[in-house]
Amino acid sequence: MSDAITLPAPHVRLGSSSGQPVTRRDGHLKVTGAATYAADNHPAGMLYAVIAVSTIARGRVTSLDVEAAKAHPGVVEVITPANRPPLSLDPDEKVGLFGFRIDALQNDRVRYARQPIALVVAETLEAATEGARLLSPTYEVEPARVTFEDGEAYDPPAVGVGAPPNFAKGDIAAGHAAATHRVDTTYETPAQYHNAMEPHAMVAEWNGDHLTIDTPNQAIVMSRALFAGYFGIPPENVLLRSPFLGGGFGSKAIMNGPYILAILAARMMQRPVKMVLPRDQMFGPVGHRGATQQHLRLGMDAEGHLTALEHNAVATTSTFDDFIEPAANASHNLYASPAISTRHGGVRVDIGTPGPMRAPGEASGSAALECAIDEAALACGIDPLEFRLRNYSETDPASGKPFSAKALRECYAEGAKAFGWAGRPLSPRQMKDVQGRLVGWGMGSAMFPCPMFPATARATLRSDGTALVETAGADMGQGAWTALAQIAADGLGLDVERIEFRSGTSDLPDGGVAGGSGHTASAGTALHNAGTDAIARLAEIATADRKSPLFGAGNAGVEARDGRLYHRGDETRSESYADILARSGNASVEGNGTGARDPKDAEERAMFSHGAVFAEVKVDPDLGQVMVTRLVGAFAAGRIINPKLARSQLYGGMIWGVSFALHEEAVHDRRSGRIMNADLAGYHIPVHADIPDMQALLIHEDDPYVNVLGVKGVGEIGVTGTVGAIANAIWHATGVRVRRFPITLDKLILDPGMPA
Ligand code: MOS
Repeated sequence: MSDAITLPAPHVRLGSSSGQPVTRRDGHLKVTGAATYAADNHPAGMLYAVIAVSTIARGRVTSLDVEAAKAHPGVVEVITPANRPPLSLDPDEKVGLFGFRIDALQNDRVRYARQPIALVVAETLEAATEGARLLSPTYEVEPARVTFEDGEAYDPPAVGVGAPPNFAKGDIAAGHAAATHRVDTTYETPAQYHNAMEPHAMVAEWNGDHLTIDTPNQAIVMSRALFAGYFGIPPENVLLRSPFLGGGFGSKAIMNGPYILAILAARMMQRPVKMVLPRDQMFGPVGHRGATQQHLRLGMDAEGHLTALEHNAVATTSTFDDFIEPAANASHNLYASPAISTRHGGVRVDIGTPGPMRAPGEASGSAALECAIDEAALACGIDPLEFRLRNYSETDPASGKPFSAKALRECYAEGAKAFGWAGRPLSPRQMKDVQGRLVGWGMGSAMFPCPMFPATARATLRSDGTALVETAGADMGQGAWTALAQIAADGLGLDVERIEFRSGTSDLPDGGVAGGSGHTASAGTALHNAGTDAIARLAEIATADRKSPLFGAGNAGVEARDGRLYHRGDETRSESYADILARSGNASVEGNGTGARDPKDAEERAMFSHGAVFAEVKVDPDLGQVMVTRLVGAFAAGRIINPKLARSQLYGGMIWGVSFALHEEAVHDRRSGRIMNADLAGYHIPVHADIPDMQALLIHEDDPYVNVLGVKGVGEIGVTGTVGAIANAIWHATGVRVRRFPITLDKLILDPGMPA
């Protein structure tokens, strides 16, 4: 059985191959409401599950009024630690590639506010919601610890997804001693929550020991195995469908307790169960970006060359798991310095476990680093762009390896030109607009690594001249439905309109993880290789067939384009795929491909996307209100498959940068440990009025090493560089250096350096 989702041909005919700005193939489905998201599924006989969450941050649940909840009309079951059936995996075990401990009602402990403490299952959403309210929990309360000061400091064994916590190159003490200019500065970033527009959702249906789940997921085949593991069934017994995601940002790549509870309820009740997290429950059991305190010490010689770059980061994590934001690692690969030292510390607090969130590490780390670099340029009396050029690294500063490609110099030049950076005064508070607002210009460097995840794909050329291409990829809005189809079309020598692209379900070849900005590179390479494999098989058939004009040409001697194979030496000799297949008696020919990188290149080269972001802000001198009025980014990310979608990704990242710099912050009540702004009214993100005219320039870059396509990634790099650019522009406008994000007006007007 396959319930794979197939997208129709694009509605607007455009160029068919990589490099063309093909319009989103799923756009029409989305704007007309025809795209089916997880929660849009309503299997017959479905029940609704609502999670009751803890209102305390630390302690024990001492009672739940299960009777009252069960007595409510429509409520069919209440699941608590007392009656929760066993799982095949311990929720407190770390399992899988991105192993996370989860909360699945394993006991009565409360480890953070909004932790699941019970699940109510009912015939209607209203009944389930009311049942959850009637549980009226009582607690044994222990004091909550939610701040750096209150939490328990420890040395993390690893940061991010398994990276070493500390790094040193050169003699950092000697570097500091040799400096003629010094910067010693500390930046703080708050806890941030993913807040995808589509909340986490699960529709689960059991059929014997087979499970079908509709749930938004960034790592479909990997997650299928994890889900199967918790329920003790083989992965093949799980069909996970995730054709569309309303955003993921990392939170939908990892396992969480609510999902497991919804599936468990469906098994207990032997009926389908739907669970959709309300917005406030997005602030607890499904991950976030941990808070950081980052101490940077930079030393420079008289000419403004770095002699020492020291970056020490402390990040919060939960009391029961070890994800630490790898913020200091942002200082490894960007600026040349004879001595680099980075360290990470952890602080355990009574907050849900953080996890990967859009540019994990790089976002927070580059915010602090780019501000510190701005401070360093000022200390040396050098323009911030010139300072970055003086410290440009021709090889990877951390490893000494050559870069696979690095067009950052071009990004600086093109970005500065488009912005009009030349002539920027060095000192702050030099520019005003006609309304008397203070005007400032700032910049930041952007950088992001180019990971690839194991991926596979299948391509089937059909006798009607079309092709079916398949990979279990995930499109969380980034455009995989379109860009991957473009890559597949090129691999097969077909117009994209002739490509039927199946994706988004776990019964297809494993398309890897849509994360780390590596999905296009990983699944794309697999699709490309599957296509060329299918063409090679077709060429074998044609060149061995005496009746074909290609007879005897040999595999290497044909070229695939426009649905035909051409003799390389003689263009007049060609034949259509359909004709080759028809005469051979084959209905189709199939190819398979994987998306791995050449291990030699991976070993020998440092691989990153780069960029430069320039920002203009205007600040009201009396009210401290900040408007970002211009934002220009220039990015070099290898081969661009679809410039329209790539720009859209970069805009999204830069908007996230505005959000990080000026808006986002989870505010914890220090006494209760609860997040007080767990909704989109109080947890601020930018709206249209906050976003200026933006430019994202795509800088040409040929990367012969990163993968056969030369594709890097554009998903996350936009947020890096942008935060620093805006913060630096605010300093340039006001003379006030705010070192605690987000930069809100109170921090500006209360600063003694901000005279009206
Ligand atoms: Mo992401 S944090 O790579 O989805």
